[in-house]
Amino acid sequence: MAQSRAEIRYDQSARTFRLDAADVTYALGVNESGELQSLYWGKRLQPADDIPAAHADNGTSSFDLPVNATPQEFVGWGGGLVVVPDIKITFPDGNRDLVLRYVSHRIQDDSLTITMKDISRDVTVVLQYEMDGETGILGRSARVENHTHAPLTVEQAFAGTWNLPASSDYQLRYLTGRWAGEWNLQQEPLHPGKVVLESRRGSTGDEINPWFAIERGSAIDQETGDVWFGALGWSGSWQINIEQDWENRVRVTGGYTPFDFAYTLAPGESLQTPKFYGGYSDSGIGGASRLLHGFEMNSILPQPHRLRPVLYNSWEATGFDVNESGQEALAEEAARLGVERFVMDDGWFGERKDDHAGLGDWFVNPQKFPHGLKPLIEKVHALGMDFGLWVEPEMVNPDSELYRKHPDWVLNFAGRPRTEGRHQLVLNLARPDVRAYVYGFLDKLLTENEIAFLKWDYNRNWSEPGWPSAPLDEQKEVYVKYVQNLYGILAELREKHPHVEIESCSGGGARVDLGILRYVDEVWPSDNTDPFDRLSIQNGFTYAYAPGLMMAWVTDSPNGMNNRSTSLEYRFLSSMQGSLGIGANLNKWTPGDFATAKKLVSEYKAVRETVQEGLLYRLLSPIGSEYAATESVARDGHEAVVFAFLHSSQEGKPFPQLYLRGLDPAATYHVHLQEGQLADGTVERASGDYWMHHGIGVSLRGDFQAACFTLEREAR
Ligand code: DGJ
Repeated sequence: MAQSRAEIRYDQSARTFRLDAADVTYALGVNESGELQSLYWGKRLQPADDIPAAHADNGTSSFDLPVNATPQEFVGWGGGLVVVPDIKITFPDGNRDLVLRYVSHRIQDDSLTITMKDISRDVTVVLQYEMDGETGILGRSARVENHTHAPLTVEQAFAGTWNLPASSDYQLRYLTGRWAGEWNLQQEPLHPGKVVLESRRGSTGDEINPWFAIERGSAIDQETGDVWFGALGWSGSWQINIEQDWENRVRVTGGYTPFDFAYTLAPGESLQTPKFYGGYSDSGIGGASRLLHGFEMNSILPQPHRLRPVLYNSWEATGFDVNESGQEALAEEAARLGVERFVMDDGWFGERKDDHAGLGDWFVNPQKFPHGLKPLIEKVHALGMDFGLWVEPEMVNPDSELYRKHPDWVLNFAGRPRTEGRHQLVLNLARPDVRAYVYGFLDKLLTENEIAFLKWDYNRNWSEPGWPSAPLDEQKEVYVKYVQNLYGILAELREKHPHVEIESCSGGGARVDLGILRYVDEVWPSDNTDPFDRLSIQNGFTYAYAPGLMMAWVTDSPNGMNNRSTSLEYRFLSSMQGSLGIGANLNKWTPGDFATAKKLVSEYKAVRETVQEGLLYRLLSPIGSEYAATESVARDGHEAVVFAFLHSSQEGKPFPQLYLRGLDPAATYHVHLQEGQLADGTVERASGDYWMHHGIGVSLRGDFQAACFTLEREAR
């Protein structure tokens, strides 16, 4: 299929740039002061529509300086700026004034590069815009270059500013959370002032995810209305500011958090900001999510991206207590279910009996695996599955050979306590020797063993983020160089071992962002595997990230998180909304459990392409509701898969009628029930219009009940 391309045009007389792709137009221009000014971002305009030239906004009174009133694409802190700057620099002579003006530009295929320069100093900023032809999502970043003859310090560096026109009717959405309670969707009206979304944890974090959406209008729903959204591609400390000014204009800025930030640029050096992706949909937040999902699957994830295999993971079954015979026994049971990948989690290395020791010592524990990993791997292969392994490469337990040998390898401030989290410290990956060690042991592990998959874990936040061995003026660069080296290791490993797939895990979903997603194939959204809690967690996750990325295990009942008991069918259907995994202790399953699970695994395989890569419609939100339902429509439209969940029946009320979405109105669809029950009298075949407007009923009663059915389009 021919790829859609973005069109980028420059109108020399008006000095305007117009970027068009999919259903989006983005326009900017150079105004009479030489500032780069945002002109339009939204629904695609007609080809003949002219973009009027940019004119600085002189404000409504002499108290408003034009520099603050004019919506600029990228602005330095200087010249009286009081809104959030994109960049702030301190020069060695004490000057901190930076005023950037347009110098030149270059258009090449889907990308636009604009160079700006300070009015007197040889500091340039190169702005990069790349527009995705399929979705109209724009990736923006900036490179700051020091062409002066002295070092300078960058104290803040963002990718650029997204400007939205004045409106007193904007709603902001973002995602917050904590361990085992990630992906809570927040929604609030915007009003003058500033909302700061941020992580100071050294990594992405689960407290807030680097994603936002702004919708215009108060009567917003899933499928209608203007929505602007954005996500940062960075896995270190970050910040997004959503600022509404005195005239209700909105500016969104984002990049490295300026908190504790300083990056020294020697003459000739440069600093690249993270990419800040932004998109627009006129089909509500549902349309916005679907654009992001497609963009992630096709333009962010390593390509080619394969459908996610059904995996088994040992963590909830065996904890740290792994050994050759125990894992082999689990592998045999998993294979009987149709599992395609067997993953051994934590506990296989060093002196790892619990979380107090062993991290850093990446050799196979000889008591647990006297013959190394080979016999287990061979057994897994003989059972028709591939083999995956858990690692946590960036961490070290003080009780480890590695730490006893290299106590200076961790983040620390000289002479200060080293705060432990989960009894572990963070290796300073910014150090070249640490980077070499981490790459070295992973490369060796993958070279010596037939490993198809790494679950790459990361289980604590930073503390005492010092780098005492670096020159004083470079120590704070740890925030940038750590993450660059992390990406570098991942890229090199993928290059050398192209068949190896990777999952990003961070004590659950604390490292999910568009930066890490360039190097991994899937993510672990939460350590909370309670199937009812998962409905809300997964619902929140999909606002920003594709269902196909979202690993979801079926685990035992009652689930330890809430001591809640649910049927195996309910647990499966909850997990089948993402990438299906099984994390239960199969040694305890009955023959009946095996039969049910085998059937559901096979049903999942039949619909997984639609679930993982299709178009997601949220029919009923689980938030504060007794009911939840999602629908995934295959990209080629041949089928739709619907999941419906009932929390608890009350007062004998029926489950609400489901009005499907995204079907071809005139095509005929045949309904197939997979699990649960449809309402009495449900017809077998009807048009897309019928299913979308007459709807379909499911007959769910009781507690924690679930249903799944598909609609198959018939040939015309
Ligand atoms: C945290 C992860 O999120 C879990 O799935 C498991 O891998 C443990 N770490 C192992 O220590």
